[in-house]
Amino acid sequence: MTDTTKSIHGEWSSRFAFILAATGSAVGLGNIWKFPYITGENGGGAFVLVYLLCVLAIGIPIMIAEIMMGRRGRQSPINTMTTLAEEAQVDSRWHYLGWMGVAAGFLILSYYSVVAGWALSYVVKAFFGGFSGGDAEEIKSLFDGLVASPVQLVFWHSVFMLATMMIVRRGVSGGLEKAVRFLMPALFVILLLLVGYAMTTGFYQQGLDFMFEADFSEIDANAILTAMGHAFFTLSLGMGAIMVYGSYLPRHISIAKTAIYIAGADTIVALLAGIAIFPIVFANGLEPGAGPGLIFQTLPIAFGNMSGGWLFGFLFFVLLVFAALSSSISLIEPAVAWLVENKGMDRHSACIWSGLVTWLLGVAVAFSFNIWSDITLFDKSIFDLLDYLTANLMLPLGGLCIALFAGWMMKRQHTLQELEMPEQQYGVWKFLICYIAPAAVFLVFLHVVGII
Ligand code: TRP
Repeated sequence: MTDTTKSIHGEWSSRFAFILAATGSAVGLGNIWKFPYITGENGGGAFVLVYLLCVLAIGIPIMIAEIMMGRRGRQSPINTMTTLAEEAQVDSRWHYLGWMGVAAGFLILSYYSVVAGWALSYVVKAFFGGFSGGDAEEIKSLFDGLVASPVQLVFWHSVFMLATMMIVRRGVSGGLEKAVRFLMPALFVILLLLVGYAMTTGFYQQGLDFMFEADFSEIDANAILTAMGHAFFTLSLGMGAIMVYGSYLPRHISIAKTAIYIAGADTIVALLAGIAIFPIVFANGLEPGAGPGLIFQTLPIAFGNMSGGWLFGFLFFVLLVFAALSSSISLIEPAVAWLVENKGMDRHSACIWSGLVTWLLGVAVAFSFNIWSDITLFDKSIFDLLDYLTANLMLPLGGLCIALFAGWMMKRQHTLQELEMPEQQYGVWKFLICYIAPAAVFLVFLHVVGII
């Protein structure tokens, strides 16, 4: 942990490269697919408000902690935790946090890849004019037809997993750094275009009201948990993804500023997606609470009814797939880095093994939409269960442990040295990470189990 130590896996070429990669990890299906549909399911404004508060008070401080811990440890999250626990002279069992992260990464990627597969199949549909002139009914049956087909789901899931593993194999500073640099701004522009379309629907104001008028009677403990879990999910926190990216970060780069940029960009993309989608929902008499298919049942209506819509639809889904790719690689990188460090594998075999495990699990998720749809546990399908377990439980729990470790276990001189912040700002972070973030997560958990 001297100034010269680098990760054996490589290093980002600059601060900007790290921002791009971490933003690439943060911005993904979570923003464009998940945020609108859970907002719709949980009644809108109040949910959005809780989510924004969680990003500010929990997400940003924990992101700073995760990047900081990664850069200090310079290894996969599991080994980083071992090293940091040694340095802080605390119980070595803290490294189980790294294991939980690896497990969460596998579980998330297994369903993430299936949903990314939906987007892939929509690239083709859009290209061949599949949405043109479609009304809400036709567009919905297009989606229903897709998820009812195990063969199609497994096919697209396989394509996506293959693409992910091929990128991960090339390591941190390979093609992705360059791709993200161009694709992120492009995605942003297309979202603005969709917002422009939403303004023409005549239901723009109604969409905005739905998203920003907070009516707290709409939400219960579970909605609050979902909002908090989503803050972790959308910022890629709580499982070591941002930690492992931090481990490739060169020294003397302001971690706090960087974290704020990333969280800001991520939030803007999510809000834009919501602003584009809800007017279309209301204009077509659809249900905001339609569930995971929401964007696939709404945006194609817009594409099908604007001129040149096939092209915009095509571009949109291509960019969505790239946004998903730049996220999925961060879900598997902690496991790959660990296999390389501890099992003496090269990146190639590490990718094959971890990819295979995820792929198999993903097949089960794909089946849970059709042939296995009646297999349920706690009233949830395999897909719902994995989503709940990871986003609502494992990530906040991981985040809680990260906050406790960075705030209470690590020595002040070490965190101060890594963060290089002015005294006052450091004080704010320290207060948030020691008290606010852990207390918030803990209280939400207690609220859900009904203790408070
Ligand atoms: N943040 C990504 C999204 O919003 C998903 C993601 C990538 C993620 N890496 C992660 C979620 C790590 C949790 C943990 O789509």
